Amino acid sequence: MGSLYIGSAFPVSAMMRIDHSSHMDHERPHTISTLGMTFPRWRHSRHDEASPRSGPKIPPKSSTGSCLRGAIAGSWPLSSPKLAGSAWVELRSASCKYRRVIEDARDLWDREAETFDQAADHGLRDPVVRRAWADLLLPLIGEPGRRVADLGCGTGTLSALLAVEGQHLVHGVDFSTEMIRRAREKAAKVVPRPVFSVADASEPPLPPASFEVVLCRHVLWAMRDPSETLQRWIELLAPGGVLVLIEGKWSNGVGLKASECARLVGSLRADVQLQMLDDDVYWGGRTDDERYLILSAS
Ligand SMILES: C[S@@+](CC[C@H](N)C(=O)[O-])C[C@H]1O[C@@H](n2cnc3c(N)ncnc32)[C@H](O)[C@@H]1O
Repeated sequence: MGSLYIGSAFPVSAMMRIDHSSHMDHERPHTISTLGMTFPRWRHSRHDEASPRSGPKIPPKSSTGSCLRGAIAGSWPLSSPKLAGSAWVELRSASCKYRRVIEDARDLWDREAETFDQAADHGLRDPVVRRAWADLLLPLIGEPGRRVADLGCGTGTLSALLAVEGQHLVHGVDFSTEMIRRAREKAAKVVPRPVFSVADASEPPLPPASFEVVLCRHVLWAMRDPSETLQRWIELLAPGGVLVLIEGKWSNGVGLKASECARLVGSLRADVQLQMLDDDVYWGGRTDDERYLILSAS
């Protein structure tokens, strides 16, 4: 199989397996080999210019990930009783700083909640965009009735979509009370009704090995320690469970590159399948971001 490259020359909608043997270096292209599998093909033409287009919502620069990494890089976890003196004081202060950063991020997302669904991919109000997401996700999730954890579920649009269209049993988690309030409103009449919890997605209060699918869209990038968080998410999966991540590297600089994210998943799982989501239909219009989906089935 020939070598292909992730980055600007990444093949559109190709299905890839990442070669984890090469070391992490985001500047250079990574060698990957094609998977002998096909992903569901797009059933949509490019988004109709005349249809409503709110444009992609770029996560705010000051949200969790960048703040956290800047504020307390390397000083977590913080609670060893054996620590004494100044080390303990330093760690206590880092802990407070971490809590403040989380609170700030949560306040910020609380404020975002009101307008969040105006972005085409958030609210899925345009039936063409909604259909595109349903056609993308439902085949990955499988037979009706799958238990799905939607981590950082926001206003619960994907949770509701999967329940309505796939009859899946969804548990959404988000730390923003405003997001969750809207998610509950949105799902009030949905059958089977998704359940929502207000909690930190980096430590979801969900039983281990109890979901067939862990889904997360546009949240992993914002975690203080994506690797550690990912490990926790994987622990939620029942044997044979599937991890579905939709992430991006936004043109404002935040986010995770596809190669970074694939390597992260590959460090914890054997199977890593990457699909670029560069069809405008998902976003309600053109975007210059690197947006993609990673599926890991084992
Ligand atoms: C870009 S939005 C994505 C929402 C949803 N996944 C979607 O695709 O529509 C990011 C969401 O992650 C949530 N979030 C960010 N950090 C979080 C954390 N540490 N714990 C729980 N939720 C978090 C925010 O409140 C927000 O709702």
